[in-house]
Amino acid sequence: MIEVAGPQKYSALSIAIHWVVAICVVGLVPAGLLIPRLDEGPVQEAVSTTHQSVGILVLFLTLLRLALRVAGRMPKPSAVLTPFERAASRVTHFSLYALMIVGPVIGWLGVNAYGEDASFFGLFKLPTLFAKDEALSDQIFALHLACGILIVLAVVAHVAAAFVHNVRDDGVMERMLPGR
Ligand code: HEM
Ligand code: HEM
Repeated sequence: MIEVAGPQKYSALSIAIHWVVAICVVGLVPAGLLIPRLDEGPVQEAVSTTHQSVGILVLFLTLLRLALRVAGRMPKPSAVLTPFERAASRVTHFSLYALMIVGPVIGWLGVNAYGEDASFFGLFKLPTLFAKDEALSDQIFALHLACGILIVLAVVAHVAAAFVHNVRDDGVMERMLPGR
């Protein structure tokens, strides 16, 4: 196995953010799909407010992660990647970042257009960006669903690539794992 030098690894903070966000995103998609399929009532309300709060958490953590990347606190691409793999991972990572910002913001706009405020675990409410307009809210949520589908496609490609690196045992997986 190739030994990865210190600066080639993600920091403990970046690794923690990566795995918290990964778990959140994997839970958000089925929970989101459930909301319009549940009967109106306290269960739908609970699933929806939890989905919104966790989605807002993903938005905040992604902005923090982007700030770390812009500040040069993320490692350069692994030296073992071929030029094609480097380009493919760049496109996939960029798409993931973009979808983890655009997707939640669209969800927030959709909730506003539906006539409600997006709340973060009841601690505070996000600013109201749109006035109530239910027809617009339906269109916004169609876009939100499209973002959800794109995020699933990007995650499948990303996890498949991670699986290949794990089988090759080329040190890429270790960059995103705690320890060493
Ligand atoms: C089993 C699931 C997953 C595995 C095994 C995995 C593994 C990895 C690994 C090894 C890297 C580092 C790649 C490198 O060194 O170039 C990475 C980076 C990344 N992962 Fe994942 N990941 C998983 C799920 C997810 C999910 C669900 C998301 C988001 C929806 C995600 C978003 C990202 C992003 C944005 C990066 C790039 C970080 C950066 O350099 O700025 N990952 N992942
Ligand atoms: C990365 C973060 C997010 C992902 C991956 C995600 C994903 C999804 C998906 C796949 C659906 C199902 C859409 C449908 O079946 O029509 C959904 C629904 C929904 N999402 Fe999200 N979501 C995220 C963040 C948010 C945020 C931040 C909010 C609001 C603040 C939000 C509010 C909603 C609402 C209210 C629904 C139900 C829409 C309806 O009743 O048609 N989501 N979400």
